[in-house]
Amino acid sequence: MAKSKSTIFFCSSCGFESAKWMGQCPGCREWNTFVEEVVPPKSSGRASSAPISRSDLPVPVAVPDVKADDSVRFETGFGELDRVLGGGIVRGSLILVGGDPGIGKSTLLLQVARYVSSKGEPVLYVSGEESMQQIKLRADRIGDFSENMKLLCDTDLDVISQVVTTSKPGCVIIDSVQTMVDSQLSSAPGSVTQIRSATSTFMKLAKSMGVTIFLVGHVTKEGVVAGPRILEHMVDTVLYFEGDRHAAYRIIRGVKNRFGSTDEIGVFEMESEGLREVENPSAFLIGGRCTDASGSCVTCTIEGTRPLLLEVQSLSSTSRFGNPRRAATGTDSGRVNLLIAVLEKRAGINLSDSDVYVNIAGGMKVQEPAMDLCVALCIASGFLDFVIDPGTICFGEIGLSGEIRSVSLALARLKEAARLGFTRALVPAGNAASIEKIEGLEIVAVGDINEALRAVR
Ligand code: TYD
Ligand code: MG
Repeated sequence: MAKSKSTIFFCSSCGFESAKWMGQCPGCREWNTFVEEVVPPKSSGRASSAPISRSDLPVPVAVPDVKADDSVRFETGFGELDRVLGGGIVRGSLILVGGDPGIGKSTLLLQVARYVSSKGEPVLYVSGEESMQQIKLRADRIGDFSENMKLLCDTDLDVISQVVTTSKPGCVIIDSVQTMVDSQLSSAPGSVTQIRSATSTFMKLAKSMGVTIFLVGHVTKEGVVAGPRILEHMVDTVLYFEGDRHAAYRIIRGVKNRFGSTDEIGVFEMESEGLREVENPSAFLIGGRCTDASGSCVTCTIEGTRPLLLEVQSLSSTSRFGNPRRAATGTDSGRVNLLIAVLEKRAGINLSDSDVYVNIAGGMKVQEPAMDLCVALCIASGFLDFVIDPGTICFGEIGLSGEIRSVSLALARLKEAARLGFTRALVPAGNAASIEKIEGLEIVAVGDINEALRAVR
């Protein structure tokens, strides 16, 4: 007897499919991620063997004959967001904006919608989470909206597709993809099959009508867009909106981009009238630092193509227990342990009975090895209680023998430091050789950790 419905198990982390439940996903090795979902029987579409009539056949087009459209990209109204997108929104693309609840995704997209609609582009804002009145309240804080900006509160995929097809907007915002429902599927909204179906519906809509669609996606505790990773594979661009909910600033980061480079970031600040872009993020991030405390130093990291100054802080205290605590906020704690080992072995600083805390001020998250030197100097400064001159900046990767290794884009980092008024820079010897003079900045080449410690003490 043929089954009318069957159930399939999906990994809620990576989307792996299986006929039976499994404890560990063979796809992504996560435990306990399998959820059961009902899948409808495949619709009996065109039999694969039936020939297609000649007029249905698509004709391949030669590359030089493809018409390039001048109006392929349009602006969002935020220079920071345009840069992350690779120079503006590409017409007909599907963009996923992920982020924690309350971080400001709806606010950002409402502001983008306001700008785009004010330029004469019809925009449809579909909300499955808030009522018209709630959106209106938020919109009133942001400013006046043009007639081109339309709202729709619905969650039914068919209804939304119909509305988009008939009203032909240039840009559609779906807030959020987890609330969208395909009525043909029996699984609950937010489940793997529903999210997949919604994403593929919007993908088809975007490509067939040339309409740009923004999808808002919530992020789970683990920091991935709720629902399977495959969501990320299906869309053109993935942006993550991150930052400390309690701090005022927000960072938008490109994780995938079919039309530009990734790893670009844009910095915003949440104000009472919505988000405002931060034009000088370095000054913003190192603003308010304490210049006469030990255990603090500034480094320059590269985010995408842009240098960013950051303050690293460290504190050590006598450990009460046999097993000292090492904690790192905003950076890799394994890397911090490695640097502590280098300081002990190569510089003779005995941290074995001290707790060590390292923090990247301002809630930024950085993994770049180029900040090793800064972290190591901060730990030494915090432990030995000496103040590093606040006009000093340093960067460099530290190797296991205590050597300071060269990093990429040293010149860009130094220029950013000089621009913000720093007067002295500790630079890996390998980089210093290729750098000519920079106005106002004394460049100190350091070959190993001991040289660096001598230069700051
Ligand atoms: P929201 O866009 O609703 O977040 P998300 O859609 O990502 O869940 O924004 C949430 C926060 O932003 C909320 O806590 C209030 C704050 N906010 C401001 O501070 N100023 C403003 O002008 C607006 C509209 C929101
Ligand atoms: Mg929202």
